[in-house]
Amino acid sequence: MEIKTDYSLKNLNTFGIEVRVKKYAEADSLESLSACLSEFSQMPKLILGGGSNILFTKDFDGLIIRMRLKGIELVHRDSSCVYVKAGAGEIWDDLVDYALNNNFGGLENLSLIPGTVGASPIQNIGAYGVEVKDVLHEVEGINLTTGKIEIYSNEACRFGYRNSLFKQELKNNFVVTSVTYRLSLEPKVNVSYEALKKELAASAEGEITIREVSEAVKRVRRSKLPDPGVLGNAGSFFKNPEIDKENFLELKAKHQDLTGYETPTGRIKIPAGYLIQKSGWKGRRLGNAGSYEKQALILVNYGGATGSEVLQLSSAIKESVYKEFGVHLETEVNII
Ligand code: FAD
Ligand code: EPU
Repeated sequence: MEIKTDYSLKNLNTFGIEVRVKKYAEADSLESLSACLSEFSQMPKLILGGGSNILFTKDFDGLIIRMRLKGIELVHRDSSCVYVKAGAGEIWDDLVDYALNNNFGGLENLSLIPGTVGASPIQNIGAYGVEVKDVLHEVEGINLTTGKIEIYSNEACRFGYRNSLFKQELKNNFVVTSVTYRLSLEPKVNVSYEALKKELAASAEGEITIREVSEAVKRVRRSKLPDPGVLGNAGSFFKNPEIDKENFLELKAKHQDLTGYETPTGRIKIPAGYLIQKSGWKGRRLGNAGSYEKQALILVNYGGATGSEVLQLSSAIKESVYKEFGVHLETEVNII
């Protein structure tokens, strides 16, 4: 396995931030991954997929291992489902395509999310009414403390909204090597998300295919999300905050167009994009970074921004939103 020294990460993070790492390696097999982990056991490590949910704010004084483990395999089939195991380094959207091509249901609402299979359980990726926890069977990987292979069932992953065991107790201490998904042989489409419902309004619900759902999701995404190849970004920068009902009603009295929906715990999730827009930040720049003109929740690099510049912008936005609404925004992107 080739180890690079003092390596630039500019092309390996979708924000396009120029930082360098002391040691860099790409793991394309379990053997090369294990060898690399033992050789650099004492060094701080970061596991990298597509770099689409990371903001680098400084050089990384350690080892970065980029996951390239490939392979998509149908490992089990029962009367209603298939179990599909994919290597951590597979591109997420290639897995979605594989499922669509075989008419396996469950991944279509998650079409076009950038990044890799290995990162999908880390923040429990979600979009258009579906989260990966809805279809994930188990996660396999290496515990960095023990060096042992461990398998986590869906329940053991303790998934929440943009959250999991891998972002909590196992943070920076577990390398996902593969993920197995349970996909449906009798796909039922989920078009409950408002924007998706609107996009598919001309079709009768009983006749919509998973391919049509995927195409509709892609159209909606392309209409409002910036292409990282053109404008650096890492998707939503903050999580949508959850507030209690009373607080929601108070805010709603002042801001009648505020929307919210009840979570299973009885709290109300409100759109951070709305709060940012109403605080005057949509489309506004601070130096080389800004809030995207079509979707305020996405912070973008207009070219040459540093990670600190993006972080400064995010602090200014948080402050304004707190002043205006009394709501704390929590960062969704991983700050390194
Ligand atoms: P990276 O950014 O490389 O890593 C993210 C985190 O996971 C880091 O902490 C990293 O250390 C860790 N990690 C990565 N791989 C592994 C592994 N194999 N083992 C252990 N840890 C690992 N996300 C959504 O949920 N929904 C969306 O709709 C969505 N839309 C987006 C749109 C755009 C335009 C962009 C740029 C991003 C969007 N995202 C969205 C965020 C991003 O696509 C996801 O978080 C994705 O899962 C990140 O994958 P990655 O491989 O790029 O992970
Ligand atoms: N809104 C505004 N102004 C804006 C943006 C949004 O007022 O500039 C309001 C609108 O009322 C809109 C609502 O926010 O109806 C929701 O907006 P949108 O449907 O674009 O979704 P979001 O809540 O901003 C979340 C996820 C996205 C995911 C979409 C679709 C989070 C943090 N973000 O965004 O995930 O793709 O829903 O399900 O939950 C990501 O995680 O990187 C990401 C892009």
